[in-house]
Amino acid sequence: MTSGLRNERGIEIAIMTTPQDQAQFKSALGDGSQWGIRLDWIEQPSPDGLAQAYLLAEDFLAGAPSAMILGDNLFFGHGLPELMKEADHGKAGGTVFGYHVSDPQRYGVVGFDAEGRVREIIEKPEVPPSNYAVTGLYFLDGTAPARAKSVTPSARGELEITSLLQSYLDDGQLDVCQMGRGYAWLDTGTHASLLDASEFVYTLQKRQGLQTGSPDEIAYHKGWILAAEFAARAQLFGKNEYGQYLQALIKGG
Ligand code: G1P
Repeated sequence: MTSGLRNERGIEIAIMTTPQDQAQFKSALGDGSQWGIRLDWIEQPSPDGLAQAYLLAEDFLAGAPSAMILGDNLFFGHGLPELMKEADHGKAGGTVFGYHVSDPQRYGVVGFDAEGRVREIIEKPEVPPSNYAVTGLYFLDGTAPARAKSVTPSARGELEITSLLQSYLDDGQLDVCQMGRGYAWLDTGTHASLLDASEFVYTLQKRQGLQTGSPDEIAYHKGWILAAEFAARAQLFGKNEYGQYLQALIKGG
């Protein structure tokens, strides 16, 4: 599993990987200073479930609320930053997103009661109660690590994120926001879904001539790095397509 958690003290992100994968991720991402952010690294000795991330990140979070995104999830859509800001409200409880999919049995699925209120979230149900999957993006308050301690392993031996979410739900503290059809949510957890995601990004980038999710472009536009630092990044990628794209941004293209 690879996932990122952001705490409240600014742009501090912990990247969680298995011990054997960490060196490769570190060599690709460094300490984050090239993007004006700070990356911390946490090892997950074995993939024992997503709720375990909150146990392993307890010291990093230090009681603060956080956003966790799964490394194999991809989100795209106009207005996404605003949606994220709304979810990052700092109130007690948590916010997750429900998204209509054709294959809900692959995910955590939302079960509604007769009034349309969220009653339960079930992990990979054989008979899904709805087509609404819970995406791999979780805004949870500072109680998440303490709650995760009460999660017991599921039949597949994992500390399921859905069990942690159910604890918020049982306390009436979970918002399940609908992420509408104007957003794309893709995952890359199977060969076929990785290919789908690649084709989506390829098509978009080819049509628009704009990169999707370039950390360099985002850091520059957010003002986390200076123009000179951005220029150095563009230089680093030289004459390849990505480097040319960054160069064009400097020239105002
Ligand atoms: C995990 C979660 C599941 C969630 C999904 C989103 O599934 O357990 O609840 O809907 O991520 O991608 P997994 O990646 O373990 O199959």
